[in-house]
Amino acid sequence: MFVSADPKTHDDLRAAVTATTEAVIQALAKPGPRDALDATQLANAVAQLDPLPEEGTPLATTLDDLAPILEGGIRLGDPNCVAHLHPAPLIEAATAELAIGITNQSMDAFDASPAATFVEDALVTRLAELHGFPGGSGVMTMGGTASNLLGLLLARDRAGENVRRDGLPQNRWRIAASATSHDSIRRSAALLGLGTEAVIAVPTTPEGTMSVDALRELTHGEDVIAIVGTAGTTDLGAIDPLDAIADHAQALGAWFHVDAAVGSGLTLSDTHRRRLDGIERANSITADLHKLWWMPFGASALLVPDVAELRAVHHASVYLNRAEDEAEGQLNLVGRSLDTSRRFDAFKVLVALRTRGRKQLGAMVDTVLDLTRYAGEAIQARPELELVAPTHTVMVAFRRVGDDARNVEIHRSLFASGEAVIGRTTVDGRVALKLTLLNPNTTRTQIDALLDLISAA
Ligand SMILES: Cc1ncc(COP(=O)(O)O)c(C=O)c1O
Repeated sequence: MFVSADPKTHDDLRAAVTATTEAVIQALAKPGPRDALDATQLANAVAQLDPLPEEGTPLATTLDDLAPILEGGIRLGDPNCVAHLHPAPLIEAATAELAIGITNQSMDAFDASPAATFVEDALVTRLAELHGFPGGSGVMTMGGTASNLLGLLLARDRAGENVRRDGLPQNRWRIAASATSHDSIRRSAALLGLGTEAVIAVPTTPEGTMSVDALRELTHGEDVIAIVGTAGTTDLGAIDPLDAIADHAQALGAWFHVDAAVGSGLTLSDTHRRRLDGIERANSITADLHKLWWMPFGASALLVPDVAELRAVHHASVYLNRAEDEAEGQLNLVGRSLDTSRRFDAFKVLVALRTRGRKQLGAMVDTVLDLTRYAGEAIQARPELELVAPTHTVMVAFRRVGDDARNVEIHRSLFASGEAVIGRTTVDGRVALKLTLLNPNTTRTQIDALLDLISAA
């Protein structure tokens, strides 16, 4: 018999889950943020594995063979694994992936995901409310890049009549975003046919937030169809002045998109929520749940104040969403998404949110923001390190006093030795090191130890 996840094979399912769980536990039980393996060693290990052998092996053998792959990764729970906006996920959300994979609902058509469809709808409705859109809605996507693309697509399609049918008119539509907005804004402009040159890069203040004076100046006389505010920049975690940007977008009649891929988690916190004031004036919001909400990839949402805003992506498909479905109370989410087949990622989010509750998640947000502020202060207190910009949310950008080459070398040597996986970027044309602190279990002592390591590197 060909084994699948069908009900006749529950024993196989239990055995497979146990075997896979053990393999993961073994890989994560290793000490440190990663093994000290270089790119050649890793490539050689992978090259020995035929991805498509003529004959298969029992699962236990396959997992044994693949153990070096799991072990060759980074271990996100380690306090020295702080390079990216990439948390060790909540265990109940990660294990809920099993339910998503095994039940394999598809979020395009009601008859492919009857209960799941309503779950995603309820989740995005609740998220929309939390972000200041009571009665709002949205759709889940694979990540912030996809959510930003969808938000800007809505802006583009509102800017002219029948853009979807006729293509772009000749005029030069512009998108304004801060110079430190995420790459996905420029990539979206390219994909939407506007071109990367359509993006007006608005300079930032020394704190790293968009300069509204510069925004006013640079957009003067331009045909601006959208302004993007970033709530939590990738390198500094800085939050643009959303209210002032909303005023300007309103004055220009431009779509206001907030990229809260990073900052969306602040909506969970009683202490920090107010820092997103103005977000409720957006036309669309990107909220990444696989960042400061501790979900495994992919879990993002594009939120809108009214579900009707998503009509720009609506399409009728003869085999998925029939006219009579809605009359029967059915919902076909293919009409909200750029995807067709799509995972039931809302399930893992639902499991985690119901298991933790808003207060606990809010406390986790408060904890990592406190830890980040502490790390910034600890860096300032060390003469051999210098802070590049104030800390805002969960990133600390800093340098070892000295030239760029020295900072590059610190980053590379810590990665090579497997002692620490830290971030490296460029701020104001100079190399900066970066810590992204998403682990609420990390202690101040562990931060001090990491800074000792960096100072000594
Ligand atoms: C501000 C911001 N927006 C968007 C993204 C893209 O998110 P994703 O990697 O989920 O596509 C990132 C990624 O770090 C980000 O920092």
